[in-house]
Amino acid sequence: MDIMGKMRRTHYSNQILPELAGQALVVAGSIAKSRDLGGLLFADLRDTTGVIQLAFGDGTAPELFEKATQLRAEDVVMAAGTLRRRESPNPALPTGEVELFVDDLRVLSKSEVPPFEIRDDLNVNDELRLRYRYLDLRREELHNAIVFRSRLAACVRNYYLSQHFVEVETPMLIKSTPEGARDYLVPSRVQPEHFYALPQSPQLYKQILMLSGFDRYFQIARCFRDEDLRADRQPEFTQIDMEMAFVDEIDVQTANEGLIVAIFEQMLNIRLQVPFARMPYTEAMDRFGSDKPDTRFGLELCDVSEALRQTEFGVFAGALAAGGSVRLINAKGLAQVLSRKEIDRLTGTAKTYGAKGLAFLRLTADSESSSYEKFLTDAEKQAIRAAAGAEVGDVLLLVADADDVVFAALGALRLEIAKKNGLIPENTYNFLWVTDFPLFEHDVESGRYVAKHHPFTMPKEEDIDKIETDPAACRAKAYDMVVNGVELGGGSIRINDPELQARMFKALGFSDARARENFGFLMDAYRYGAPPHGGLAFGFDRMVALLLGKESIRDVIAFPKVQNASEPMSGAPDTVEQKQLEELHIRSMPPQKA
Ligand code: AMO
Ligand code: AMP
Repeated sequence: MDIMGKMRRTHYSNQILPELAGQALVVAGSIAKSRDLGGLLFADLRDTTGVIQLAFGDGTAPELFEKATQLRAEDVVMAAGTLRRRESPNPALPTGEVELFVDDLRVLSKSEVPPFEIRDDLNVNDELRLRYRYLDLRREELHNAIVFRSRLAACVRNYYLSQHFVEVETPMLIKSTPEGARDYLVPSRVQPEHFYALPQSPQLYKQILMLSGFDRYFQIARCFRDEDLRADRQPEFTQIDMEMAFVDEIDVQTANEGLIVAIFEQMLNIRLQVPFARMPYTEAMDRFGSDKPDTRFGLELCDVSEALRQTEFGVFAGALAAGGSVRLINAKGLAQVLSRKEIDRLTGTAKTYGAKGLAFLRLTADSESSSYEKFLTDAEKQAIRAAAGAEVGDVLLLVADADDVVFAALGALRLEIAKKNGLIPENTYNFLWVTDFPLFEHDVESGRYVAKHHPFTMPKEEDIDKIETDPAACRAKAYDMVVNGVELGGGSIRINDPELQARMFKALGFSDARARENFGFLMDAYRYGAPPHGGLAFGFDRMVALLLGKESIRDVIAFPKVQNASEPMSGAPDTVEQKQLEELHIRSMPPQKA
């Protein structure tokens, strides 16, 4: 059925300028809303670029007018007519000075009454929005985020291509390797009982590409990780992935600072200063309790362990004796807002990060109160105040525990207090490189060391001889790009020496046989000449969210997954037919009831 006839769009709404008044135009899109004022009728037509008002009335053929009165929200139409200046312009609309006086209207598709109105200011519950994602995507804010995302991808491509990087697609069906997050598995039909994994990142392939002489690689790559969802994590997400040969850390960082500068200039018209600040991991932890510090505000951590070495207060003494620390943050000038009740609430927050409690000192003009008053000597109390620079109006919040708990709890309190009390300046972007990450991380569950970044990361030269003797002290040539407390990307220089790689696998508890089984192809590849190389990957979804100021990456992904990793619109994941399972040599096993 040829419902459009010869009618073709001449203009998108964002191309309709007041200067075009008097011209004949054709527009196409959906009806956003219509207002029937008796003899006059106005309808807003929405297309992918914006809205233009259609006008009917004095002079409109009666048949056409009748048709216009039948228009309902979300009907899909094409309209031809003459552009004219509006009698009452709408300054809120880019096309608000003009309207299309329609002489031909084709209703191409009628819409049922949608489950919610397509309007940004409408509060619709998330579940409904996601189930009807195709309607939600018509809303201006979300729609524009997806368009922005596409433009950003183009900007990224242009930058890397201009720097002589080659875009290479790496496979989606790969070998499962036992490091990092849980893999999504795909059964093989032709090889019974064999499985592919979906890539958690293109890591191994991009390293191989360096061995293949490509020198500079990039890819906007889909990655899959079967881990728990959060606001900044999806099971399926996108990386800007890159790798380069004949480089050290600074070279990789400089190349990617160039990308960020180009993006900010082209997408936000903001000029950033480079190089970005650099901060070693240990400094980030000591000062901010986080390896992705938000450096837009103070509230830095302060270590008071030394002053308390001899304390008889069991809570502090116990933590110190166990190798932990006592640290605090000084909530400067916040004694009025941090009431006892509020401190109790913050104690709750600290506990969710594993702290056993939160000690405090609250100094107001007419009173002092402290949870450790009775337990510490005057000298100890004085030392804490001096270290914290405590003054009237301040609240000190202390946590005593193993370092990782202290950092997690105080790092979280720092953010929470800053957010709640408006201490975070808006419209600033504090970029920094966090460098010198630990090479290993002790995994409590398995009781062994695991790679902090991944097993292919190069140790710092001066730490190589400690791999076997003191793994905890080894630092890596690994770096993260952090902005405003968000880990935007991370990478490292890779091991390009098969012997060193073998030592790494051993330190990570791989037997020779298992290392061969999992990574044999990679280890072999490195035997045929391997340039020094390194790279990095950005979270593309996180980058879009950052640039658009969105809280969740869900708001910049067209069809995101929800908490239980399902996609509400299509209903994935779903059961499949028995026959499909049989072809795949798979028998499904219902979960055991506890
Ligand atoms: P890494 O695991 O640090 O490094 O990931 C790089 C960046 O990807 C983003 N990211 C995510 N975004 C959304 N949802 C997720 N589930 C998710 N997981 C990670 C983050 C992160 O900084 N191959 C290495 C990179 C390298 O060494 O070159 C890698 O994947 O922004
Ligand atoms: P308690 O002796 O357990 O009553 O604790 C005395 C004070 O120390 C209370 O204010 C507790 O909240 C606080 N506290 C308990 N455990 C810790 C800890 N691990 N770190 C900091 N303060 C703590």
